[in-house]
Amino acid sequence: MMEQSQQTSGNKVALVTGATGAIGKGIARQIAEKHAYEVVLLCRDEEKAKKAVEEIKKSTANNKVRYELVDVSSLASIRNLSKRWQGRLDALVNNAAVTPQKREETAEGIELQFATNVMGYFWMVEQFIPFLTESPSPRVVNVASYWAGGLDLNDLEFKNRPYNNDMAYRQSKQANRMLTVASAERLKSQNISVYACHPGDVDSTLSNNLGFTGSDSPAAGAKTPVWLATDSIGTGGSGQYYEYMQKTRCRFGENRKEVEALYEICDSFYR
Ligand SMILES: NC(=O)c1ccc[n+]([C@@H]2O[C@H](COP(=O)([O-])OP(=O)(O)OC[C@H]3O[C@@H](n4cnc5c(N)ncnc54)[C@H](OP(=O)(O)O)[C@@H]3O)[C@@H](O)[C@H]2O)c1
Repeated sequence: MMEQSQQTSGNKVALVTGATGAIGKGIARQIAEKHAYEVVLLCRDEEKAKKAVEEIKKSTANNKVRYELVDVSSLASIRNLSKRWQGRLDALVNNAAVTPQKREETAEGIELQFATNVMGYFWMVEQFIPFLTESPSPRVVNVASYWAGGLDLNDLEFKNRPYNNDMAYRQSKQANRMLTVASAERLKSQNISVYACHPGDVDSTLSNNLGFTGSDSPAAGAKTPVWLATDSIGTGGSGQYYEYMQKTRCRFGENRKEVEALYEICDSFYR
């Protein structure tokens, strides 16, 4: 059964997508350790969601932890979530991602990695702007990666190239970093800071599908996203990319023509 969104007054509220995964659960837990926060785990599997909520409540002694069900690869599902949301949102952590080995499409007909890893982030931001603007210091953290590149604006869904999950993944993470720049600029006037980061190399379903294991713990991987989501780092870094809590040059964000072209495609085509 879906829980109704209901903010406990006075708390800061953080929303973490993919919070049953390796890094996402680490992020949710570390934010919950800060008792000033109510943490909402966004999940697609209710059994896993319930388990994760109980585990985090127990280990952090923060009772303001709950879940919401959503499929972030679906605009309809995200719209449904935003419709039942109440109250302000202080931090949105876009983290959910997939790396299927074969090309798949969503029910809405979009290639699955592009839908989940790119449009899921984009739609979450778009749908939650009204709630973010109610926060005194709103921020969006897009969990991206240093493992990024190869974006083809003319073939974002691998319709004309042979699908390869590593290529599709690297493209999606490049897109996360580019769209961070575009969103930061557009949301500046609403005081919303937007950051991208590499979390670390963590053993997970996602990394295993790509043939990696990972030497960082989920807790280590959560550190940079949590810092960006909750620390008073100020708005000066909005639009920037971070690795291991260090602002890092991002060549993808510097290509403004491509950044704008990608934003326009996401904004106009995928709805
Ligand atoms: N692991 C690494 O080494 C590494 C390195 C660089 C960047 N990253 C980034 O870190 C983030 C987290 O990765 P991870 O390694 O923690 O992966 P993971 O353990 O496989 O977790 C992915 C999470 O996303 C959720 N998810 C997938 N599709 C969804 C959908 N349609 N709707 C809702 N939730 C969905 C999964 O839900 P289920 O639990 O139900 O499957 C899971 O909770 C990703 O953005 C990834 O690109 C990871």
